Amino acid sequence: MKNILIINGPNLNLLGKREPEIYGSLTLKQINANILKISSENTKVSFFQSNIEGEIVDQIGKACTDENIDGIVINPGAYTHTSIAIHDAIKASHLPVVEVHLSSIYQREDFRHKSIISAACIGQIFGFGAKSYELGLEALLSVLR
Ligand code: DQA
Repeated sequence: MKNILIINGPNLNLLGKREPEIYGSLTLKQINANILKISSENTKVSFFQSNIEGEIVDQIGKACTDENIDGIVINPGAYTHTSIAIHDAIKASHLPVVEVHLSSIYQREDFRHKSIISAACIGQIFGFGAKSYELGLEALLSVLR
């Protein structure tokens, strides 16, 4: 059994209403339900969303200590472009982490072109809308096998 944690950062709780022309019309609840539908019976997926940087740092810390998580898929939202703390938490966890984005961050504003998180991750998937999460999960599981 593989235990996977999917983390969503700030404003991703607003999916469905938030700039649907960029992020699509599915809510985070619907995206998470789709992930559960495609995940096999030997994968346990849990979810965490926070708008607060320190809570995300804490959750990554807990994932590698108390919670027996084997790997993480993370959409850090805007913290992608600013958070050394999340980068460091991923490094400290020694867990394989896949960074995902709904939108194609390299085709958007300049300030979205730099990810501070990616250097701490095993890979990055962006631009496939809600599918980015499913692709991220598949990629993560492929390295855990
Ligand atoms: C995002 C891209 C970020 O630049 C933005 O701040 C988000 C969402 C994405 O999934 O495309 O909140 O991570």
